[in-house]
Amino acid sequence: MKRVFSGVQPTGNLHIGNYLGALVQFVELQEDNHCLYCIVDLHSITVEQDPAILKEHILDIASLYLAVGVDPKKSIVFVQSTVAAHSELAWVLMCNSYTGELSRMTQFKQKSKDSESAPTGLFCYPVLMAADILLYDTDIVPVGNDQKQHIELTRDLAIRINNKYGETFVVPDGRFLKESARIMSLDDPTSKMSKSAESEASRISLLDEPARIKKAIMRSTTDSEGSIRFDVENKPGVSNLLNIYSSFSGKGIEEIEAQYEGLGYGAFKKDLVDIVVEGLSPIQERYRDIRYSNELLDVLREGTEKAEAIASQTMKRVSERFGLGI
Ligand code: TYM
Repeated sequence: MKRVFSGVQPTGNLHIGNYLGALVQFVELQEDNHCLYCIVDLHSITVEQDPAILKEHILDIASLYLAVGVDPKKSIVFVQSTVAAHSELAWVLMCNSYTGELSRMTQFKQKSKDSESAPTGLFCYPVLMAADILLYDTDIVPVGNDQKQHIELTRDLAIRINNKYGETFVVPDGRFLKESARIMSLDDPTSKMSKSAESEASRISLLDEPARIKKAIMRSTTDSEGSIRFDVENKPGVSNLLNIYSSFSGKGIEEIEAQYEGLGYGAFKKDLVDIVVEGLSPIQERYRDIRYSNELLDVLREGTEKAEAIASQTMKRVSERFGLGI
């Protein structure tokens, strides 16, 4: 069995980009692998959070994990800050990462905007992510495309330390889905769908009501050509909607193109609304059952125990290799 690890930040409600790019893989992989799925609260405080809201968001995301089908009998579900080894290993990795390579991280450049007062935590964000992954001897990291650079850094750090200190870490691989590794914004299909985008019309959240889903899809940006054809360069809006359609329905892009030949965007968008509403409604129903249940906290507490047992083995090995402690 391979070891799988992934995480999601508890910053707001998840959107269909998170779902189709990452969570769908979580559910698929848990059948044949040993999976750990984490709510990475330490990452989220690299930008300022309201403590009371953060606490709620942690439980929101944990509930969404379970609602989309992550099964705590098959996977370990836990909150990052409840396993202290994440921060400990991050420090060891920081001592082996270079300021040059961290300065080149595109997410840091975007978020810091060259400001002198950008938090150091934001700069070290990818190193904490590497710690998350390496702590569990992870083979596979299911994520969206935007995490590619962070996975590369994780691999570089693992290889660097293995070469310097002897075999310490498993070198992980990222896993990206073809159609949904990068779901784009609905009102600006040249940028990715994101939790932090100001425009509400840019995304569909997993807990959105049918009326909001309808509004977002019917108003989504397309083009003036009128044909339903996959062509990312010339038709980014339609191509993005085709990806969403394909991911929710399980149909191939060509099959969908053939189905809508000669039809306009209106008919295509109307069907897409139904498909997305149908896809999200069982998730929303399960979410409502789970969110305020006792089961949720039990799952997270048990997850912490199981994750800690694996993490402490890795930290023992790391301490030995680095000559730490007594
Ligand atoms: P986060 O919380 O931004 O996003 C969670 C997951 O959703 C994917 N994703 C997308 N996929 C397709 N299209 C999109 N528009 C889209 N937007 C987001 C992300 O790629 C991610 O898989 N740094 C990570 C959290 C993290 C992590 C880790 C992930 C911390 N430690 C260890 C894996 C392993 C992040 O910010 O994800």
